Amino acid sequence: MKSVGIDGISIWSGKLSLDLANVFAPSVGEDPEKYTKGLGLYTCSFPDVREDIVTMGANAAYKLMKNEGVDPRDIGRIDVATESSFDSSKPISTYISGCLEQVFGEEFRNVNKGERKFACIAGTQCIDDAHNWILSGRNEGKSALVIATDTALYERGNPGEATQGAGAVAMLIAEDPSIVELSLKQGYSSVDETDFLKPNQQFPSVDGKRSVQVYLSLMRDALTNFEERSKKMDIEEFQFVPFHVPFPGMVRKAASLGYRHMTRGTSIEEELEKIIGPKPEIEEFSEYEMYTGSIREYMKLLEKTEVYQKWYKRVIEPTIEISGKAGNWYTGSVHLARTSGLIYAVREKLDLVGKKILVGSYGSGAQAEIHTETIREGWDEKVKKIDIYDQLESRRPLSFEEYEQIHDVHNYSKETLLKELTDYKNEFAFKGYGKMGEHTYEFI
Ligand code: CAA
Repeated sequence: MKSVGIDGISIWSGKLSLDLANVFAPSVGEDPEKYTKGLGLYTCSFPDVREDIVTMGANAAYKLMKNEGVDPRDIGRIDVATESSFDSSKPISTYISGCLEQVFGEEFRNVNKGERKFACIAGTQCIDDAHNWILSGRNEGKSALVIATDTALYERGNPGEATQGAGAVAMLIAEDPSIVELSLKQGYSSVDETDFLKPNQQFPSVDGKRSVQVYLSLMRDALTNFEERSKKMDIEEFQFVPFHVPFPGMVRKAASLGYRHMTRGTSIEEELEKIIGPKPEIEEFSEYEMYTGSIREYMKLLEKTEVYQKWYKRVIEPTIEISGKAGNWYTGSVHLARTSGLIYAVREKLDLVGKKILVGSYGSGAQAEIHTETIREGWDEKVKKIDIYDQLESRRPLSFEEYEQIHDVHNYSKETLLKELTDYKNEFAFKGYGKMGEHTYEFI
């Protein structure tokens, strides 16, 4: 069986940033600690005036191809994952390949291109498609470019406004990869849900509290499905567990549930029972609300135990570091989480070859997916090339008034003229609209 996985990663953050605790919260009359302590968010990225999902995706892909020395002729497939598309017919992948052709002078004419939509899980699904394409041999030695790109913006005044962000993650999916190998086994949980959707509208309709519950419920079910299809997992076998990160506080909730699930029937469970008592079971309660209330209390106690905190610090915390500064990037978020863990491991000089990662993806509407990845020889040299922290540091900070203007610039129902706030150099930028309403782009 071929070994298939991620062979290169590049990231492009929106070039503006909003300080959520010190700028946004006081301007909307909220407590800054809701952001830092509650949601786990400090700043988030925003697209400048001439940035959008195409420029961010093309800039991430261009950097990836340059860093990895990829020739356009090595690429047989370009798939874009996004839930922020501005066109219901023409895919963002042809816009992006058009941009890349401007600099490579080489055509992507005989390349299969597509666009995947299933909320935030679409990036993982694009990787899946590339994986299957390579396993089948239909790639004929070529690799796939997967680009997850989004502007995660909510209507002004919507609670979701607290959890915005913008950026793109480009990944090279190839045979015999040097970052991670993908498992063949997967676990799914998928239902007809209305937690978050955009029925022909730019900004989402969201039932925020429900979306959190659906995320947790499907993630747990996908874990169970994964175990049924593979084997009972051992909590200690994973170096990192990157989850989809709409905001780090969401992952805090998912992590304790995952921990509880994976330690069931183990010596850790026995140890925990001595400290915090047994986990409540549904049969013990006459009403469901009493059961869920009791579970919440149990989880709070679990999260305070030393054994759990040690695990969380080692396995989860490194994966949410970038998101706390970048915000929600929808389709890119789980891939930011994986990268965040790997960059941390380079910084800490950890030897990860052969170690495993458990990846938990989620898309509203709704589906969760679980798979594992094995870290490969050469991963550290590849990860050292990812400059996301430099990008985050060099973003142009927004005042609250500028944030309001930038939000309007990216609102399709408003015509707002604003001069770009950053300099553009060696990058793609939005140029204007063509005669059929198409977007046009230039390399600056
Ligand atoms: N100090 C410390 N903590 C505080 C605080 C303070 N002063 N004020 C509030 N908090 C805590 C709250 O207790 C809460 O934590 P818990 O959930 O652990 O209780 C947290 O901060 C958030 O506070 P609220 O619930 O009051 O915040 P909110 O009403 O603004 O709603 C939200 C938060 C539901 C996430 C909302 O921002 C939202 O709707 N976001 C978009 C939807 C979303 O991201 N859903 C996630 C799952 S769906 C998904 O993953 C797909 C996707 O990418 C969108």
